Amino acid sequence: MLDNLEAIRQDFPVTERYTYLNHASIGPVPRSTAQMMQSFLAARSLTGGLAIQGEWEDRIYGTTRGNVARLINARQETEVTFTRNTSHGLNIVAAGLPWQAGDNVVCAETEFPANVYPWENLRRKGVEVRFVKAENNRILPQSVAAAMDSRTRLVTLSFVEFATGYRNDLDTLADIVHRGGALFCVDAIQGLGVFPVDVQQTPVDFLSAGSAKWLLGPVGFGFLYIRQERLDELDLIMTGWVGVEDWRDFFRYDSPFRHDATRYEEGSIAPLMLLGLNQNVQHFLDWGVEDISRRVLELTEHLLTGLERLDLTVISPHEHESERSGIVSFVPKDDPAALAAKLSTAGVIISQRGNFIRVSPHFYNSHAEIDRTLAVIAAA
Ligand SMILES: Cc1ncc(COP(=O)(O)O)c(C=O)c1O
Repeated sequence: MLDNLEAIRQDFPVTERYTYLNHASIGPVPRSTAQMMQSFLAARSLTGGLAIQGEWEDRIYGTTRGNVARLINARQETEVTFTRNTSHGLNIVAAGLPWQAGDNVVCAETEFPANVYPWENLRRKGVEVRFVKAENNRILPQSVAAAMDSRTRLVTLSFVEFATGYRNDLDTLADIVHRGGALFCVDAIQGLGVFPVDVQQTPVDFLSAGSAKWLLGPVGFGFLYIRQERLDELDLIMTGWVGVEDWRDFFRYDSPFRHDATRYEEGSIAPLMLLGLNQNVQHFLDWGVEDISRRVLELTEHLLTGLERLDLTVISPHEHESERSGIVSFVPKDDPAALAAKLSTAGVIISQRGNFIRVSPHFYNSHAEIDRTLAVIAAA
């Protein structure tokens, strides 16, 4: 619940220094999470490996997977495997599916490169990568349908497109993709932590995300959801001693590989990262993702109204609320680099992407911060 928003904002010391509107790039770690991670490191320093057992074990290994599963409403927590980043998860899917020469993957021309190269890498196996063209910065479900044919094995799209902020309609897409006989893979990093995801209601087959943006977690850590029914279609391209059923028995080599997504965890997973992710996911579950989306949409609405009043061209689709996200991108009247520099000097942190400026507030930002940003833009 976000009833105590002012108190929650206190957990974001970044607000004391900046107007931080750059969550589509990297989010700030909440103070409470940073403190917990620091305490764990202090314990590691003081007691070595003993710190990982005992007091910390539950918060690291006991509950993280279950909390991530709750965040996306996975049926079983073992449908979640921890990864280094979004790309790592996408690579497990790309390398694991049984491709045949002549198969194709459908992607979009507005995807971040993380969701392109793992599929481009399949060209050497004779797989074609098709890029759906955007219409007014939207990836239309009918364009996805038109790009598919009987050789389409997989469609892969972002939940929210990184530059335009267009929020794909995952329900409609999942339906189209499955009716076309293909699998649906989602890069969720730009939407998770802002919008609810329910993988039981929205039947995506694979969903990959890193924790560093809207989930406000560690950089270089993430997870991949693999629908249990899809497991047998994915080759076990890598595994190791942690991926087997009886991993605690170091004196046997014949323990079967686990029959769930966790079999891709080949060795030790970074406990510090697990701790950071877990603490944040618990925060999100407490704050309530529905409340967070309402708040983010309210802030971006305020921003959109202000930008329109300044007669600036907004490239983020915003006619319908369902296509909006935490990202608002606009084309400045003059040099975008000059405006980005002015905003930076004023302590407003945003991203310049090509010829436009991308503003991405999170729920703890305030209307006053949006007004301050608009004032700098107006004065530029
Ligand atoms: C849509 C999207 N996917 C993935 C990434 C990052 O990928 P990774 O987590 O592999 O670093 C970004 C941004 O950095 C992104 O905007």
